[in-house]
Amino acid sequence: MTNAEIKKLIKKLPLWVKAAQLTQLNASFIVDSKAEITGSAAELAVTEKQIFEIGSILNFAGAKEMREIQSEHLHKSVYKLPLIFMMDVIHGYKTIFPIPLALGCTFDEELIEQCAEISAVEAKLDGVQITFSPMVDLVRDARWGRCMESTGEDPFLNGKLARAMIRGYKKGGLGVCVKHFVGYSAAEAGKDYNTTDISERSMYEYYLRGYEACIKEKPELVMTSFNALNGVPVNGHKDLLIDLLRGKWGFNGTVISDYAAVTEMVVHGYLSSYKECAFVAADNEIDIEMMSSTYIRYFDELVREGKIDESKVDEMLYRVLKLKNKFHLFENPYYKTDEKKAEESFLCARHRHIARVAAERSCVLLKNKGVLPLKKDANIALAGPFASEKDIIGAWCCRGDKARTISVSEGFENYFGKKFTTTAGCSADLLSDDLSNIGGAVTAVSGSEIVVICIGEKSCDSGESASRAKLEITRPQAKLVKAIKESGKTVVSLVFGGRPQVLTEIEKYSDAILYVWQPGTEGGNAIVRLLFGDVAPTGKLTMSFPRTTGQCPIYYNAFSTGRPRMPDSLENNRYSSGYRDCLNAPLYPFGYGLTYTDFELSDMKVSDEKLDKKGEIVVSATLKNIGKRKGEETVQLYLHDLYASAVRPVKELKDYQKVVLERGEKTTVRFTVSEKMLKFYNSRCEYVSEPGEFDIMLGTDSEHFLRKTIKLI
Ligand code: NOJ
Repeated sequence: MTNAEIKKLIKKLPLWVKAAQLTQLNASFIVDSKAEITGSAAELAVTEKQIFEIGSILNFAGAKEMREIQSEHLHKSVYKLPLIFMMDVIHGYKTIFPIPLALGCTFDEELIEQCAEISAVEAKLDGVQITFSPMVDLVRDARWGRCMESTGEDPFLNGKLARAMIRGYKKGGLGVCVKHFVGYSAAEAGKDYNTTDISERSMYEYYLRGYEACIKEKPELVMTSFNALNGVPVNGHKDLLIDLLRGKWGFNGTVISDYAAVTEMVVHGYLSSYKECAFVAADNEIDIEMMSSTYIRYFDELVREGKIDESKVDEMLYRVLKLKNKFHLFENPYYKTDEKKAEESFLCARHRHIARVAAERSCVLLKNKGVLPLKKDANIALAGPFASEKDIIGAWCCRGDKARTISVSEGFENYFGKKFTTTAGCSADLLSDDLSNIGGAVTAVSGSEIVVICIGEKSCDSGESASRAKLEITRPQAKLVKAIKESGKTVVSLVFGGRPQVLTEIEKYSDAILYVWQPGTEGGNAIVRLLFGDVAPTGKLTMSFPRTTGQCPIYYNAFSTGRPRMPDSLENNRYSSGYRDCLNAPLYPFGYGLTYTDFELSDMKVSDEKLDKKGEIVVSATLKNIGKRKGEETVQLYLHDLYASAVRPVKELKDYQKVVLERGEKTTVRFTVSEKMLKFYNSRCEYVSEPGEFDIMLGTDSEHFLRKTIKLI
């Protein structure tokens, strides 16, 4: 269809049909579906006639159900406008990749793009046109369950990696919905859906940057968030939705609300009726309301009363119909849906291979007292509640199949062709305090020299509405690690989770710790290859790991204070910013991760100590592999603006490079620093650079680095 034809079509539609087209409902409104209702959908009050003119569907069960829904819809609809189908394809469709937070730790755009492309290929064949991904919310508070859906606490990295995801989805044929615009992740106390309060400075400095980067990649949609931001629910934020997103950033795609968030403006106490919700949401050009029906119910009245101009509704509809047209649904309402090809692609050898590589590259080695890699003939047993757990694919695993996921014990079996002694010892339930099987587990592994203990949090304990007030490894699991260690074993802890957890206790009793996140379909196979050194861990943390929950929110790129405290000592000036009972430093910092060899960074140089507005400086250092095997290091470039018209973060990641070196090999790593990289939001929130001194830091994590000072003139 041409754009002119779309406009002509719009002219022919009655207002109530236009309103219905701007409404998105769950599959269960049309067919008998298992789609879960996660908000206040009971209040929808829509008639059957209206339902059969709606514009889009979310969360359905694949190609068969898509066909059923589309044909039922087209059969019963008077206007015969095809539905467009959207789904949360977050880190895989049927083949499940590690959770986004884990993928972030790869610092590997190419790999992330590949994972997204595969997810798109599988989803597209199974009837999906749009994915509600990537989520670019900046995450600083590990109590918030949705940390798992972000790539971490750094806005520059989040933007880069989200762009890679968008490119991958598009290559694979899916449309993209970037979410949740904006500030959702700053939920106070880490409680999901809680209120947020973010200054203009923090907003520009941290929270908006990932989104701004994404818009450059031309996503089809942007989803607005649930939260109240500085007193106003985001769906009512004209300055963000109209002035910034549509205006300054020029986003002319479709904006969709989050689930029932339009009507939640009443629950927030911001508006007093659903009619006002319809007005405010439309006024802010929210083109699709998800799982609420205020447009259907009130557009007629609002247009009659002259509060909304019908031409505004037409513009919203134009964006939605153009989206359907982009996916060729007017010509073929099942475009590219192909059950047979879908089945062939699901979990095929190539997709599994990339899932395994992604899992290998996203695990982070946090501690290694010379234990890893394990010797193939070592006498090993497996313990812990995750040793045989197949649900290691995360809470947003889409159509992922736990039964076809490789657990750790299966990974061992596949690798060695034999079974290993395996004992759970306790459960990972957050509320369990049952220690009764720990003694039995110690006995069960007593014949082995090394015990690989698989602990952490379950898939259902992170993700949406899965906040935690205590991030410590649960008492039974910590006791299990301690008891096995005290029985004289070498302990390798494998920690599963959708967020950073507090490892302070288990660190004392572990000879090695590998953080494996929720590694996806190929988890077990990847983990075993890492443990035995077929591949070396290369992941680097993209969220700081707290020593205790009380340190949250904790992040490396905090603003300077007037009374800084040394991060790694309690013996500081008392009247400095810190705690009486805990260090400031995280247990493991942003950018940290070990591998099976050691690297030494030395001889840092800058090509010039002065930089002018047009020039560039080359920053270099020698990187040497001083360990015993070939390896990969991620060299990170940080910057600190020493004096500025607004207080600056103590450190900001500006660039990174992955370098592979043979044993004994060395190379020169070079980065280019330009004036553009020194820009920031000044005291009036204008994006400028200011002359002055800047520390340039090159390191292998955010706490260990070499430093040189340069001057912008
Ligand atoms: C609510 C979540 O906040 C959002 O991320 C998701 O895309 C929608 N539900 C649809 O499932």
